[in-house]
Amino acid sequence: MRAVFVFFVCIAQYRLRRFAAGMHMHPQRRERWLWFRCKQEREQTKMGVTRFSGIRACVFDAYGTLFDYASAAARCRDVLGDRLDRLNALWRDKQLQYTWLRTLQGRHADFWQVTGEALDFVLETLEIRDAALRDRLMNLYLTLDAFPEVPAVLEHVKKAGLKTAILSNGSPAMLQAAIKHAGIEHLLDEVLSVEDVGVYKPHPKVYQLAVDRLGLAPQQIVFQSSNAWDAYAASAFGMRVVWCNRYGQRPERLPGKPDCEIRSLTELPALIGA
Ligand code: 2OP
Repeated sequence: MRAVFVFFVCIAQYRLRRFAAGMHMHPQRRERWLWFRCKQEREQTKMGVTRFSGIRACVFDAYGTLFDYASAAARCRDVLGDRLDRLNALWRDKQLQYTWLRTLQGRHADFWQVTGEALDFVLETLEIRDAALRDRLMNLYLTLDAFPEVPAVLEHVKKAGLKTAILSNGSPAMLQAAIKHAGIEHLLDEVLSVEDVGVYKPHPKVYQLAVDRLGLAPQQIVFQSSNAWDAYAASAFGMRVVWCNRYGQRPERLPGKPDCEIRSLTELPALIGA
């Protein structure tokens, strides 16, 4: 008799869980219901309730968010001296400009080529004619420092049962080298490169790649980026977004709006209840 009672209680609990997750709905209606429920949470988050729910994956931008792109030139301070900061700023700006312009033109080249061509532009601009320095800077770009909090934050997210992924402009070879150097391969479920879609961020195809590979709705993904334009684009695409504003950038006047802004990824676990 007791076994029968327990059996029916289990059935009732299962049905209740499916109902709460909207599984009883037609897929299209469930998509709209999921969006609306997440919109409510999104509104709450903007009003300072800093806790997402319904999240199944944390997706991270790589350069600027997990890895410090300025660390390559910082290790060449011996040669660059007081030109270091200008080289870093120009190199990053030109690298991103070339990604945007190539995607607009439909003339894709991978991030290794674009990063090298941007460096060539900057070295000529600063009148630095030093082939050995160029090679040294490019090789260092393969082993950029991970920001100090990154391994522990990825551990936290994994322990909370969420999937973890990188979604980056970086080429597969660049990303694998950086991940290996940082010793975080075991903490990432997916490493997604724009090379799989042939266009750069902020093209929507890039964010769609994460949705397709993870098999999740955009609202079930929280995307982290330190690049404001990237964070806004992911928000406009429909992901939940944490803008890790490491560089004190001003809010963009672009479509989309990150759900919240932090200064370091150490604040992320609390946002996802990890
Ligand atoms: C990345 O895609 C935007 O460079 C940044 O990793």
